[in-house]
Amino acid sequence: MSRISVVTGANQGLGFALAEGLARRATSSDVVYLTGRDAGRVAEAAARIDHKTIRTHVLDVRDGNAVTAFADELRERHGGVDVVLSNAAARLTPGAPSSDQVGPFVDTNNLGTTHMLRAFGPVLRPGGALLVVASSFGTVRQLPRHLHERFAAKSLDDVDATMLAWRDAVLDGTAAGQGWPDWINIPSKIGQVAAVRAVAAERREADSATGTLVAAVCPGLVDTDASRPWFADMSGAASPAEAAEPLLDLALGTRRPEFYGELVQFGRVLRWS
Ligand SMILES: NC(=O)c1ccc[n+]([C@@H]2O[C@H](COP(=O)([O-])OP(=O)(O)OC[C@H]3O[C@@H](n4cnc5c(N)ncnc54)[C@H](OP(=O)(O)O)[C@@H]3O)[C@@H](O)[C@H]2O)c1
Repeated sequence: MSRISVVTGANQGLGFALAEGLARRATSSDVVYLTGRDAGRVAEAAARIDHKTIRTHVLDVRDGNAVTAFADELRERHGGVDVVLSNAAARLTPGAPSSDQVGPFVDTNNLGTTHMLRAFGPVLRPGGALLVVASSFGTVRQLPRHLHERFAAKSLDDVDATMLAWRDAVLDGTAAGQGWPDWINIPSKIGQVAAVRAVAAERREADSATGTLVAAVCPGLVDTDASRPWFADMSGAASPAEAAEPLLDLALGTRRPEFYGELVQFGRVLRWS
């Protein structure tokens, strides 16, 4: 059977390397959907890979209806999807006020992630992998203890509500007083992992019977236009191609039950709490 893969935010950075790596590991009947929010950038990226398994689709993950329509389209066309790499992310600008950045950041990185989980969870074929690219900041250990319970989510709606309440606290200037970290990347990454955990809690039993994986992944520091402005010394950063390899190994390799529903980095689970 052909392996059908989808990568979001795949026109540059880590997402591009993930799409390229999937194409490199594909057989001739496989299909890799390289997606991104801008038609020109998506076409240009696909041309750089120039591999017959690559197809393109313009997908803005902020648009929940478009995400659902794409998932439905792939179910109709292929019967489902085997690998979903939810990687799209808005960037942060050092020095810019958090209140200016938090709205678009949550829309893409958090609501975009939950749109992907809601739409693509049901079309994931048995044995497939649905991975959300998060980061090592994505554990409640980054938060004061009294905030942990806000992420003991029962559903994706609960996670969305937590993230929107935090966003509003950033906007009205009360977030720091509530104990939230100043760097908005941290709560946002925790929200992404909490979303994965909520989905995993619902599907764990069925997925364990079929070897299907739902997990969050941390690529480590990757040398991209998004990370470069934040670090004076990038000498320890992996190239996007290097960082993509362990993520692809996880998506395509032998299933390890201990990774299910967890945040995984370099072959080990990062403890949630
Ligand atoms: N770089 C690191 O060191 C690092 C470390 C840990 C985790 N991560 C995570 O790895 C992922 C990729 O990071 P990166 O460094 O490769 O970032 P990047 O270079 O900024 O790439 C982000 C990608 O997401 C796309 N995107 C932005 N908004 C979108 C939207 N609304 N809908 C669809 N696509 C959208 C961008 O498209 P445009 O080109 O159109 O903007 C771009 O293709 C992120 O989730 C990031 O948090 C990165």
